[in-house]
Amino acid sequence: MDLPQRVKLVEVGPRDGLQNEKQPVPAAIKIELVHRLQGAGLKEIEVTSFVSPKWVPQMADNAEVMAGIQRQPGVRYSVLTPNQQGFEAAVKTQPDEIVVFGAASEAFSQKNINCSIVESIERFRPVVQAALAQGLTVRGAISCAVGCPYEGEIAPERVALVARLMHEIGVQHVGVADTIGVGTPLKVQRALDAALSVYTIDQISGHFHDTYGMALANTLASLQMGVWQFDTSVAGLGGCPYAKGATGNVASEDVVYLLHGMGIETGIDLDKLVDAGQFISDFLQRKPNSRAATALLNKRLG
Ligand code: HMG
Ligand code: MG
Repeated sequence: MDLPQRVKLVEVGPRDGLQNEKQPVPAAIKIELVHRLQGAGLKEIEVTSFVSPKWVPQMADNAEVMAGIQRQPGVRYSVLTPNQQGFEAAVKTQPDEIVVFGAASEAFSQKNINCSIVESIERFRPVVQAALAQGLTVRGAISCAVGCPYEGEIAPERVALVARLMHEIGVQHVGVADTIGVGTPLKVQRALDAALSVYTIDQISGHFHDTYGMALANTLASLQMGVWQFDTSVAGLGGCPYAKGATGNVASEDVVYLLHGMGIETGIDLDKLVDAGQFISDFLQRKPNSRAATALLNKRLG
């Protein structure tokens, strides 16, 4: 097995993790969460999204959160931008990276961003151009890369098509996203392979929701292909308001436990990460949705 020696995790808890929460989470809590995550050694944090507050009220404080973060050298902060309006608001807050998000499913594209796949690419085009011109890096997310809540199973060719469209407009990296967590290892490998028909292994990442408990298996299957970048969410928070039945992302704590146990470096302090997960879980008045965090918290109790 040719496993990577080092893995980069993009912590999406403040964005994907919180966007689906019904109760308002104050900006100060989101800022504190980002501080704790960077304190735990996360070097890439997806902080918020510049989407319509009517669509996702939880992210309405995007600018306030970005302004409140005490930035740490060596840490990169990314934000989601679905269109020019979002980009213009985002750029004022000085992110290091922007994320355009499309889908391999036509129905999901309509539900999530209110346009077709082809229209979404036309919306992204000027955003990507402007971002690159300003020296920002650009990531693209390909939602529903294995399955869609509206269309069912998604063929790898759809992923390859969206990857090609994103590549043509200058998107530098794509995240292959199992939005509703229906993927199993071979299907996920086929979706990643489809992205690899356009992008290199250093330009793709896995973004796995854990609805069916497959996200760790899918992570391992990705590692076996040499994929070394993953989006994960502290305490297993997450979900997309426009993907019915989608639960949280794979928990960052579980992925770190898996990687460290395999001798793969992450630069992350698992104990501090567990503390960050407990902090946000306490606020949300629930237990962290992470087996590793639960085990480590129980162990602390002795
Ligand atoms: P639309 O209604 O088609 O947009 O929404 P519009 O251009 O027709 O504008 C309508 C109104 O929205 C106007 O306001 C605009 O100003 C406003 P009004 O005149 O009615 O008062 N508007 C905006 N406001 C703030 N920021 C903006 C913006 N754009 C327009 N950027 C839009 C299109 C994309 C905005 C909308 O569909 C939307 O906000 N969707 C966001 C959905 C979302 O955030 N989903 C979750 C993130 S994706 C995800 O979680 C998946 C991922 O994790 C990977 C995976 O797991 O699959 C990344
Ligand atoms: Mg997601």
